[in-house]
Amino acid sequence: MDIEGVLFTESEIQARVGSMAHEVAGHYRDEPCTVVSVLKGGFLFTADLIRHLTMPVSLSFAAVSSYGSGTTSGTLRLDLFPSGLEIRGRRVLLVDDILDTGRTLAFLRDRLIAAGARELKTCVFLDKTSRRTTDFRPDFRGFDVPDVFVAGYGLDFAGSYRNLPHIVAMRPRGS
Ligand code: XMP
Repeated sequence: MDIEGVLFTESEIQARVGSMAHEVAGHYRDEPCTVVSVLKGGFLFTADLIRHLTMPVSLSFAAVSSYGSGTTSGTLRLDLFPSGLEIRGRRVLLVDDILDTGRTLAFLRDRLIAAGARELKTCVFLDKTSRRTTDFRPDFRGFDVPDVFVAGYGLDFAGSYRNLPHIVAMRPRGS
């Protein structure tokens, strides 16, 4: 695979992040929240988003890996999770780069609720709605994307491209 073309430029991304932050801030008003950023992909979007937020924000991280048959159907394993103190009784905003089948965020949402989150909202930058296999719906979302592999702005292809300031579509091998 190599790069097919740019899907979202840096300025399109930054403009959308700013308008999403406005929506998020409108929900929380001045109340504190814990932002849980999903590693690795969510780190850039989280960093940009929280710099626009004016309410008190605590930052925490979670990571999930998929093992077994393939990347989308394997069993999910929790690799990193916030401490109970960071979640219990708090309003929690779960932030990720991309929503695909919905399994990862549904898995984390359920665990954060089980850990005692008082309120749980989800925020994704990209949404591949056509790939959804769960009834998961994000509370805040940036752009809908077609069913193509995307990279850049935190998203990787084979470990590379996370540092791109824009988002690219990858060309499938052989096409
Ligand atoms: P699910 O299916 O659990 O998947 O919603 C979410 C995770 O899948 C990864 N993913 C991608 N990563 N380019 C990527 O770099 C993509 O096009 C893509 N689609 C899904 C990503 O890790 C996300 O957290």
